[in-house]
Amino acid sequence: MYVLGIETSCDDTGLAIYNAEKGILSNVLHSQIATHQNYGGVVPELAARDHIKYIVPLLDQALQQADLAKKDLHAIAYTAGPGLIGPLLTGACFAKSLAFALNIPAIAVHHLEAHLLAAQLNFKQLIFPFLALLVSGGHTQLIVAHSLGKYEIIGETLDDAVGEAFDKTAKLMGLSYPGGPLLANLADYALTEELPYIAAFPRPMVEKANLNFSFSGLKTHAMHVWNNSKKDNACKIAIAKAFQLAVVDVFVIKCKRALLQTGYTKLVIAGGVGANKALRRALTRLMQELSGEIYFPQTTYCTDNGAMVAYTGYMYLQNGQYDTKYNIEVKPRWPFPHRV
Ligand code: KG4
Ligand code: ZN
Repeated sequence: MYVLGIETSCDDTGLAIYNAEKGILSNVLHSQIATHQNYGGVVPELAARDHIKYIVPLLDQALQQADLAKKDLHAIAYTAGPGLIGPLLTGACFAKSLAFALNIPAIAVHHLEAHLLAAQLNFKQLIFPFLALLVSGGHTQLIVAHSLGKYEIIGETLDDAVGEAFDKTAKLMGLSYPGGPLLANLADYALTEELPYIAAFPRPMVEKANLNFSFSGLKTHAMHVWNNSKKDNACKIAIAKAFQLAVVDVFVIKCKRALLQTGYTKLVIAGGVGANKALRRALTRLMQELSGEIYFPQTTYCTDNGAMVAYTGYMYLQNGQYDTKYNIEVKPRWPFPHRV
């Protein structure tokens, strides 16, 4: 069975083809960074237009790489939400029309659930239940994944998502969009010069006994430190290091608390910020200390991609859980499917 996955929720057009026996056969992506860079953030209308421009050539490329024709596809999975309405509609219209023409199912996929399941693409042995840390541009959540479609949110950010805090801190220091990976690169920068002294950044919410997060204060703290600094490259590096260290520490403390409270011994990292090397190292150490297991998707499956959508669609197809209608509907504010 071959499932095509289409991701267009924001600024990446991602298409991939999944097969249960062979895994991911092709995974192609067009990133719109160049389109939005001049504006310092995603312009929804431009994003939708870019998806339209690239989706057909990417489909041809995905089929060619997998050595398949359209008629070989058994289902088309597409991101139906949450995300930007224009970009979501582009993907949904394309997926439903193609599925209708091929007389195969079109399966609506929840973007965050796709992120959460991405690690299973690399680790077949990763079975439910597990604890997941979902860290992306729009979300920061600690989730108990009971089974397919049954998720319990046990902690989340009360304000900014961690990816957003990374991006905004990067932007205020003049790094280009999206600044998260650039800020992380600065933080990982090997020291060849002496850095200015900067007091450790606060670790927000760690004193609170709950599993929630808050990152907007950290971003504001970074802004004050930056504005009171010499604003040179050494200051940038020092702030990036202090910021990343604080974020990583918060996740280590809260993940440890969540694991001890729930008794789970498997931790799964999902979402774009899951590509962060310092976070990966620190959480790996934590799981060694707790004698548990940690699972990260490969970095290309951490940030937005079609592979996770194809895989999630396949899981629902296999369970017989999908809508057979071809009406076009997207859910820009689709709450995470959960059970408490
Ligand atoms: O999951 P994703 O690709 O898109 C959303 O669904 O939001 O996540 C994008 C976010 C952005 O905020 C980006 O700056 C951040 O992930 N990000 C990183 C790194 N790579 C991507 N943040 C910190 N360190 C990284 N290496
Ligand atoms: Zn995402």
